[in-house]
Amino acid sequence: MTPDGGIRARGVRRSFGPVHAVADVDLVAAPGRVTALIGPNGSGKTTLLLMLAGLLTPDAGTISVAGADPVTENYVARSRTGWMPDVFGTWDSLTAREVLTTVAAAYRIDAARARARAGELLELVHLSELADQPAHVLSRGQKQRLGLARALVHDPDVLLLDEPASGLDPRSRVDLRVLLRRLAAAGKTVLVSSHVLTELDEMADDAVFISGGRTVATRSVADGDVPREWRLTALDPEALTRWLDETGRAYRTESDGTGVLVELPGEAAAAALLRSAVGAGVDVSSLAPAGGVLEQAYLALEEERR
Ligand SMILES: Nc1ncnc2c1ncn2[C@@H]1O[C@H](COP(=O)(O)OP(=O)(O)OP(=O)(O)O)[C@@H](O)[C@H]1O
Ligand SMILES: [Mg+2]
Repeated sequence: MTPDGGIRARGVRRSFGPVHAVADVDLVAAPGRVTALIGPNGSGKTTLLLMLAGLLTPDAGTISVAGADPVTENYVARSRTGWMPDVFGTWDSLTAREVLTTVAAAYRIDAARARARAGELLELVHLSELADQPAHVLSRGQKQRLGLARALVHDPDVLLLDEPASGLDPRSRVDLRVLLRRLAAAGKTVLVSSHVLTELDEMADDAVFISGGRTVATRSVADGDVPREWRLTALDPEALTRWLDETGRAYRTESDGTGVLVELPGEAAAAALLRSAVGAGVDVSSLAPAGGVLEQAYLALEEERR
């Protein structure tokens, strides 16, 4: 890993005619971490990823990917980057195995090594049994998995994955999460876009939020205590709200009246709250985070923008 590895993008812009697809994006994704790229439909995620992957030229701004500039050092940058597009595309009559060996050849990996690597990767994404089927007959989820294998052929330092979990069944989603965590643990930089925030919660260390082609927030997810809402229920809801009122704590009652939501700075505060509620004789029946960290951050941003 080069000392200035990972991804850095500053002031990146790209328009398509009158459409400012990416208007001003700053983004940092560090080696050894999984970074989530989050934004509504049309916010510029795919356009940004294409620029980071060296497949689309920015109108302005600077980009460094694994220490190389995808504009001025395109081949070097691309040789260090694995790109998984949101749709696999058509590969005519190539088999799954041939897709991988063809990509390997494009990266100038010799034939013997390419065959071995293709076999390993097909195994990794559980496609060994379909290795010699034409890629176009694979199901949507199988194509996604082949797309992931294709991104890994040349053992890149940086992985750019556009909606990698879409179309995957629950087992394959878990496999994807485990694989991405493992790649990050091995020092790779992983940038992943998705709409499924609960899924990202479990795999991301950091999150970059974009909206209307601009970076609107960055958050760290994994580093311990994140302020968030917790949902609290009790056998006697009135006893719970009475106790909260007496202790002067801010809370909101859920619309259906079954529980209350309390903003807490982290797990230690949640444990302390539980201890004092139980100590005061309130029969707490559950206490858990209300929704994921990313979902809450996303909704809070939407709120700010109203
Ligand atoms: N090749 C293109 N020509 C014209 N407009 C484009 C092109 N590519 C993207 N756009 C426009 O740029 C904006 C950003 O698109 P982009 O695909 O980057 O969004 P996205 O965040 O990936 O959305 P989604 O969540 O739906 O995948 C959209 O308004 C889109 O219509
Ligand atoms: Mg997209």
